[in-house]
Amino acid sequence: MKPIEDLKMEHEAVKIILRVLDSICKEAEKSGELANPEHLEQLIEFFTTFVDRCHHGKEEELLFPALEEVGVSREGGPIGVMLKEHQQGRDAVAKMKASLVKYRDGDRKAVGDLVHHARAYITLLNQHIDKENNVLFVLADNNLSKEKQMELWEGFETIETQKIGPGKHEAFHQMIESLESIYLS
Ligand SMILES: [Fe+2]
Ligand SMILES: [Fe+2]
Repeated sequence: MKPIEDLKMEHEAVKIILRVLDSICKEAEKSGELANPEHLEQLIEFFTTFVDRCHHGKEEELLFPALEEVGVSREGGPIGVMLKEHQQGRDAVAKMKASLVKYRDGDRKAVGDLVHHARAYITLLNQHIDKENNVLFVLADNNLSKEKQMELWEGFETIETQKIGPGKHEAFHQMIESLESIYLS
């Protein structure tokens, strides 16, 4: 498979989970509480491991350096913007997590903060994904040689094994299917 296709497929999985998060936010806004806080814990684990460590790891450690080699700029350019947005995403997930801990400790008002941080994350990541799909990935497909793309693909497989461990990727896909059937059907 081509490395860019792999990242695009991961984007589709992320977009589904962002819709699940949006649905949870709507329910929480209506009722003022979380019917299933454990589902949010699963989502936060997905954002931390699948999205940040694995997907952003592939981009930051391998794709972005490969694009820099062919002249795409970091400082003041698209790679710098992507890196900044990855960091903003990390910050938003940390805030969601802190609000969830407060809620589970009995602070019912933390629901409002949680929804606020979750919505910021949804907006940020959806537009980030669109920029990558429509701009950066097009640059990659047009400018990276077949050999470089093969090298990236092998590197991506190593990152998956190292960062999320064997079998975990499938477990995440099962989780996506299960939450999708609960919240989006
Ligand atoms: Fe990214
Ligand atoms: Fe991405």
